[in-house]
Amino acid sequence: MSNSMPIGILDSGIGGLSIAKEIRKLMPYENIIYFADSAYCPYGDKPKEFIKHRVFTLCDFLIHKGAKILVIACNTASIVSLDDLRKHYAIPIVGVEPAVKPAVQATKTGVIGVLATSVSLSGNRFASLVKRFCTKTRVITQPCPGLVELVEQGEINSIKTKKLLHKYLIPLIAENADTIVLGCTHYPFLKPLIYEIIGNNDIKVIDTGKPVAKQTLRVLKQMNLLNAEHNHGKEMFFSSKDSKQNKDLIKYLWENSQLSQ
Ligand code: DGL
Repeated sequence: MSNSMPIGILDSGIGGLSIAKEIRKLMPYENIIYFADSAYCPYGDKPKEFIKHRVFTLCDFLIHKGAKILVIACNTASIVSLDDLRKHYAIPIVGVEPAVKPAVQATKTGVIGVLATSVSLSGNRFASLVKRFCTKTRVITQPCPGLVELVEQGEINSIKTKKLLHKYLIPLIAENADTIVLGCTHYPFLKPLIYEIIGNNDIKVIDTGKPVAKQTLRVLKQMNLLNAEHNHGKEMFFSSKDSKQNKDLIKYLWENSQLSQ
């Protein structure tokens, strides 16, 4: 396998760009190929077998395009299919999961809130995260129906999105949560609105973009797969949804949005 082959990244839609952007920042020489499954988004309300089938289809596509590593930049897809993917494919696979461990380390009140899709929160993988790390921490889970759809429509700064986020965040704040985990890769694009709602409360918001980028770098290094050519890496974007709105949104989020607070 040639080291100049791309890093393959996928998500149920455009959310995984929040991870892809961190990968680009950390690895400027790597080529990136991204697949947004926006025609089938959200995954969160679909049967697990269907999600698995889509994820395998996308992985096959990315490998066909030469991916040397796969990043499953979707909590829902990772939770449902990571074990099966690792059994099936020979190339390395990096997954994502809600950042419960760093949140437990960060909380002072002993209460953390986790925003994610219903599928992510109901899986065994999430239950095992809580069991392993939250022995002394109270975890309040908040499924967020509707949020992924709004991000897919590009409503990352609208009143409608702010109202929905308000509904999901205020009960967590009322329960004294001082650390909020963004357990879905679409949500980091909503950070400006989230910080507006949180206001002056001393609350941390944690996502997985940077840690997943670091893990990808670690795996590439370990396997001697880093691109040796030191030219600026190229990106290619694919989507199952053939619409101008989707293309424009990918371009906008890739080029303009700021993720870090
Ligand atoms: N970005 C996906 C995640 O991290 C959204 C899942 C969905 O489409 O429901 O879970």
